[in-house]
Amino acid sequence: MSRKMKNKVIHNLRIERIAAEGKCVAHHEGKVVFVQNAAPGDLVDVRINRGKSSFMEGEAIHFHEYSKDRVEPFCGHFGICGGCKWQHIHYDLQMDYKRQQVVDQFTRIGKVPIPEVNPIIGSAQTQYYRNKLDFTFSNSRWLTREEINSGKEFERNALGFHIPKMFDKIIDIEHCYLQSEPSNEVRNSLKEFALNEGLSFYDLRNQVGLLRNLIIRTTSTGESMVIVQFGEDDPEGIEKVMAFLHEKFPSLTSLLYIINLKKNETFHDQEIVTYAGKDYIEEEMEGLKFRIGPKSFYQTNSLQAYELYKVAREYAGLTGEEVVYDLYTGTGTIANFVAKQAKEVIGIEYVEAAIEDAKLNSNINNIYNTRFYAGDMKDILTPAFASKHPKPHVVITDPPRAGMHEDVVKMLLQLAAPVIVYVSCNPATQARDIALLAEKYQVEKIQPVDMFPQTYHVENVVRLRLKP
Ligand SMILES: C[S@@+](CC[C@H](N)C(=O)[O-])C[C@H]1O[C@@H](n2cnc3c(N)ncnc32)[C@H](O)[C@@H]1O
Repeated sequence: MSRKMKNKVIHNLRIERIAAEGKCVAHHEGKVVFVQNAAPGDLVDVRINRGKSSFMEGEAIHFHEYSKDRVEPFCGHFGICGGCKWQHIHYDLQMDYKRQQVVDQFTRIGKVPIPEVNPIIGSAQTQYYRNKLDFTFSNSRWLTREEINSGKEFERNALGFHIPKMFDKIIDIEHCYLQSEPSNEVRNSLKEFALNEGLSFYDLRNQVGLLRNLIIRTTSTGESMVIVQFGEDDPEGIEKVMAFLHEKFPSLTSLLYIINLKKNETFHDQEIVTYAGKDYIEEEMEGLKFRIGPKSFYQTNSLQAYELYKVAREYAGLTGEEVVYDLYTGTGTIANFVAKQAKEVIGIEYVEAAIEDAKLNSNINNIYNTRFYAGDMKDILTPAFASKHPKPHVVITDPPRAGMHEDVVKMLLQLAAPVIVYVSCNPATQARDIALLAEKYQVEKIQPVDMFPQTYHVENVVRLRLKP
């Protein structure tokens, strides 16, 4: 972008709508301008920080008029924390915008005939809906401009979330509206204890410090798991922290820790020590139990996951006679959820530990008509696999944000199951994949589901039928 454009301020731009990934859209001299931290209806001055021949990107720096659709954000951390960026938009409108995103992606990217997109299924809980949060300890707390300008000395140790796009800056969280108790209590008590005891908070740049990361998982059945990651192998310090949590929160059903001396916080390859309680928590859905280990994935909004799975099951239209393939099965939650209405379910997933959980979850629920395979989808779901297994009547597919590999889409065309149910957390890649599947399939139904209120994220379920 030309120097002239960078930092240029465009005055009096009216924000028109919200596009993909929650970006606000305005126009200036025939060019699209994507604007951060605004809302449709606002009249703003925008500082441009990126420009291309067809569009510009910038940040609202002055508001001449606020949109009448704005609501007061409920969280004191709003604007700095990257967690719930849509708090200033009324929930009804958030739902409309998300549905519109699905329509836009299918019209612009999918370019396939679609039926009317159903209104989004809203979340009964719009706060405290997450069952998992991940907090980072840091000795380099993010300071606001006012704090810096005040010239005062501030406590720099923090326990909270990464500031968007700044790996070493952590916003200290006092109250988070995303997860129910004991989440806030555990985080705040542990921070206070660590400060009083003079325990070291992690230095993200130099990779030193005892306290590194805190993960809290809760279930709708009242169980809770706390995992503390330590950045140093200091038995005395570790015992102090774990004994404190054990005594202060006797209701935690699973208290675990990890000594992680690696450069990054991921712990799929690390040993997990059970300090107290069980090494898993259990979630329940329609009488089915799901065992969730510290390394297992589980949909983060448990109540809405149930709504999502009900849509997927309804779209599958099972009678008890069908062979179902559940692709990207994770811990086999969808596979086990539909198993009682199917003849057989075959689940495929990349992560081996997840497949072990999927098998265990079938076992503890007395489900005997599931089979699970671990490996990369494009390497497992091949013509050789198809020839050794019964042909699917229904394929349920729930890939990651990137969507399906082209080879997997080709294989689905080859398998030609009468029905495909495509669940996605990214309607853009979903629309791209469905454009390829349109060679043999038509879109019958589209149902967005809101899994993440106060954010722009949208989950979407599509039923595809093999063309006659
Ligand atoms: C959106 S999650 C779906 C989870 C599951 N359906 C559920 O509802 O809990 C996507 C899953 O795809 C898996 N995955 C990602 N890439 C994969 C690949 N190339 N082959 C197989 N599985 C993959 C991830 O490990 C993850 O479990």
